[in-house]
Amino acid sequence: MHDDSPVKLVDDDSTFVAADLHLAWAAYADAHGMSANDRVCLVGELNAAIEAVDGATFVVTPFERSAVLSDALGMSAEGGVWVKDETGGVGGSQKARFLFSILLHLRAAERLGHLAKRPPLAIASCGNAALAAATLAKAAEWPIDVYVPTWMGDGFGDRLDALGARVHRSERRDDDPPGDPAMFRFRDAVAAGAVPFTVQGPENALCLDGGRTLGWEIGTQFPGEHIDRLFIQVGGGAFAAATSQGLDSVHGTVPLYGVQAVGCAPLERAWNRSTGADSVAKVWAEAMTVWERPSSLADGILDDETYDWVGVVEAMRRNGGVPVVASEADIEAAHRLAREAGYNVSPTGAAGLAGLLTVRGDIAPNENVVVVLSGVTR
Ligand SMILES: Cc1ncc(COP(=O)(O)O)c(C=O)c1O
Repeated sequence: MHDDSPVKLVDDDSTFVAADLHLAWAAYADAHGMSANDRVCLVGELNAAIEAVDGATFVVTPFERSAVLSDALGMSAEGGVWVKDETGGVGGSQKARFLFSILLHLRAAERLGHLAKRPPLAIASCGNAALAAATLAKAAEWPIDVYVPTWMGDGFGDRLDALGARVHRSERRDDDPPGDPAMFRFRDAVAAGAVPFTVQGPENALCLDGGRTLGWEIGTQFPGEHIDRLFIQVGGGAFAAATSQGLDSVHGTVPLYGVQAVGCAPLERAWNRSTGADSVAKVWAEAMTVWERPSSLADGILDDETYDWVGVVEAMRRNGGVPVVASEADIEAAHRLAREAGYNVSPTGAAGLAGLLTVRGDIAPNENVVVVLSGVTR
């Protein structure tokens, strides 16, 4: 059943139904005898349970040319700034898409009798990913452990508590290597049998399966001939890698601009260090190293390592994109601008737009450029 031809979504408001033929979880379910109708029912059941918890559900999110942003950036009528608006998505950001494909895989495994009992889910995050994971876990009535840094605010902890997540503040231990202690405790939990319910491809590649829906939607919704550039804010990198891969597969190659803040730019550093290497993955240890003391107003993209950097660099090499490092001034300006344009977005969620501001001088007024605004401010 699995369809490797160029991706074409069927006409359905429910993204994961529209994309069924192209999703890995569905191919797995199909290979073990779960019918297309049963898969649609499974998506529908979970969507209803998620809506009851969150108020939102997995439907195709809005995509439009923003007149305010296009005018502010001096784009002409033939071109413009196109916004994929993820602020109304499940959990208020794009993150839940990545987790939903893992959850569907798990629920399919249960239905097929491949999973006798429910191991706990585990994630390391104190941002939109943790919220999305706790929301989905509550909807599915599946236990979840969330590993967070010691500095996480109490308000955020309260929201995770309200969703029934077990929250673990993760101290740095004397024998920890450089990197995020919450990530180390998460990996310990996975080694002990938890399911990596994560938005990082190297920890669970099934997250990239659902992430691609974002690129498929953008490519399908764009009404014009060709998108000239795609700007995506980069933290761990799964968002950029999956969206670019998805978009290219429905729309032809669109250069990806992976945007980081000047106070945390391990991707650009790895891009430079891996120049000329035939295989990016082979130079991982030298190229992708931990960024010391990350800092930015865009605090959701302060991952000290770009975990999915290989996917992001390979996408940019393939489609002619480059990394962009935005100044704090551009991050602040983009946030202001996005809010003036009517989007209730966080500085993190507007950081892709900051990258567009940074390289605005290289872009012709008649180009069509896409940003994803995500991460609602509550
Ligand atoms: C709104 C928003 N945009 C972008 C990102 C970065 O996504 P990724 O870690 O997949 O690069 C995050 C991460 O928390 C986010 O919350």
